[in-house]
Amino acid sequence: MEFINVTPDYKPHIALVQLNRPKELNALNLQLMQELKEALKSLDQDETVRVIVITGNERAFAAGADIKQMADKSAIDMLKIDQFSTWDQIKKTRKPMIAAVSGFALGGGCELAMTCDMIIASETAQFGQPEIKIGVMPGAGGTQRLTKAIGKARSMEMVLTGKFINADEALQYGLINKVVPVELYLSEAMHLATEIAKMSPVAAMLAKESVNRSFETHLDEGLHFERKNFYLAFASEDQSEGMQAFIEKRNPDYKGK
Ligand code: HXC
Repeated sequence: MEFINVTPDYKPHIALVQLNRPKELNALNLQLMQELKEALKSLDQDETVRVIVITGNERAFAAGADIKQMADKSAIDMLKIDQFSTWDQIKKTRKPMIAAVSGFALGGGCELAMTCDMIIASETAQFGQPEIKIGVMPGAGGTQRLTKAIGKARSMEMVLTGKFINADEALQYGLINKVVPVELYLSEAMHLATEIAKMSPVAAMLAKESVNRSFETHLDEGLHFERKNFYLAFASEDQSEGMQAFIEKRNPDYKGK
């Protein structure tokens, strides 16, 4: 597939995916989302990739869904377009995903960052769910993931007024992992990706799945799920390698098997 709106770049074990509609502040039109879905699907299946970093550019991670593309749509048009099947597929990505955010992460852009597992932000980053200002509301997880991340009071304020929060506030509220100077946000995200890529990719996949399960189930069920994945990790060669390396006081060499 030829990518126009998304530029995938491959490094050893880490794939960098850049949203690439800079003139439109990376507004997420249907084509971009389709390309992103395809890119993530193939990276998720690529044995050489262990961690995926999604970024935009300095001015914008993404300023939301493409308002111009949605403006004249009816409810039935939206139902038929079924854009959320794309979002559902992105959510199914099993490898760890990091959002490297600078500038605007608004509406669908904030939702895309929250669909990732961790967020590294530049000090210029702004997060918001401003859909209310254009007569709608968040539709790709904004009312759910934001509330789980920052709590009801702050989420209500953002969703009902459309106000943005800056990177320091996002950090303080627990929405993001780290704030760094603008020239460092991508390298910091790549650094975090490199740390994770050193781990067993099998264990990382099982651990990601288990953490995410905590949002979807009650404690006993979540603990049961965690235990099954813990046992499953013992079926991997990486488990023997990791424990043997500890005993032999050397670094492990994980193969993802
Ligand atoms: C389409 C967009 C866009 C968007 C910006 N642009 N955001 N086009 N959809 N979401 C375009 C502008 O029209 C403009 O194009 C160019 O990008 C630069 O934007 P400006 O507005 O000139 O820049 P600035 O004055 O710096 O303001 C930046 C901004 C503002 C504050 C981010 O653009 C803005 O408010 N954008 C919309 C944010 C928003 O409401 N997002 C939520 C969308 S709904 P031209 O051609 O004029 O130069 C949503 C629902 C998700 O996300 C549901 C799930 C999919």
